[in-house]
Amino acid sequence: MVRGFSLLPEQASSFAQQVDRLFLFLTVVTVFFTLLVTGLVLFFAFRYRHGSRVRREGAKDTDLRLEIGWSLVPLIVGLTAFVWSAKLYAGIYGPPPADALEIFGVGKQWMWYFQHPNGVRENNELHVPLGRPVKMTLISQDVIHSFFVPAFRVKRDVLPGSYNMVWFVPTKPGKYHLFCAEYCGTQHSRMTGWVTVMKPEEYETWLTGGGSTSGVSGQGVMSNLSPEQMVAEGEKLYRQLRCNACHSASDTTRAPGHKGLYGKKVKLRDGSEIIADENYLRESILNPSAKVVAGYQPTMPSYGGLLNEERVHLLIAYLKSLSKSEERKKP
Ligand code: CUA
Repeated sequence: MVRGFSLLPEQASSFAQQVDRLFLFLTVVTVFFTLLVTGLVLFFAFRYRHGSRVRREGAKDTDLRLEIGWSLVPLIVGLTAFVWSAKLYAGIYGPPPADALEIFGVGKQWMWYFQHPNGVRENNELHVPLGRPVKMTLISQDVIHSFFVPAFRVKRDVLPGSYNMVWFVPTKPGKYHLFCAEYCGTQHSRMTGWVTVMKPEEYETWLTGGGSTSGVSGQGVMSNLSPEQMVAEGEKLYRQLRCNACHSASDTTRAPGHKGLYGKKVKLRDGSEIIADENYLRESILNPSAKVVAGYQPTMPSYGGLLNEERVHLLIAYLKSLSKSEERKKP
């Protein structure tokens, strides 16, 4: 895929142009002030060099205009860069639009696994539809990795122990590099892949065609389950682990119920409030004493030893389904 020399990667997401504009601004400002300061240093060094015939008396100690100038201009330039980049950062790492396609990804020494909403999974390849927001929920099975798609100008660390999200809108069909951008061991440099942006119709066909393009299957990380199957598997696991023994829908004296929990505000023992998102559910399964709901004792044991990320994901799929059925009942 040699396309000749270019300074920047292709612009293939809605963020790409915005990031490039900011980058251009920072480059122009840096080059301008570097040239200005260097130029003045050289100019004065030459003009007032030893033995040159220039007037040296009557030099002023202060000049208010100059001082205000060199305070105010950098302040304005600095604040512009701050506000601009903070807004862009909040856009990329903030919550995605509600209609975003949710793809789940796991980083593992030294591969990427992705799972589409309908259960189709793929390794080291990611197919996404054109023009639709895609929300990536990412987690690592071992060390810190980093999900990096230069053409999308998107990079997000992939951590063991906590979900990280990032989103983007692909704006150009094509095949783009996917990198791991965090040194994660011997084969780090080979932890690469391809992101393919397809027209929405092609993506649908691809999805229904089973999708699994790479021959590497299994690895014990992800299974090809439909959303319904994931919920069913999660429910099975929920009963196996006897979660319902304490978290019963009818009796909430021992533990809070799970119905409608996902996405709701939860009051904690220390008086703070938190939204019950994926990270909160996951933490509460693996480390229940971290955030105890107000009115309850930290009596739940940790399930960390019994579950891998895939099984935690199944449990969360089930817990989420408990909130969705609630919504559907409302007129
Ligand atoms: Cu994974 Cu570097």
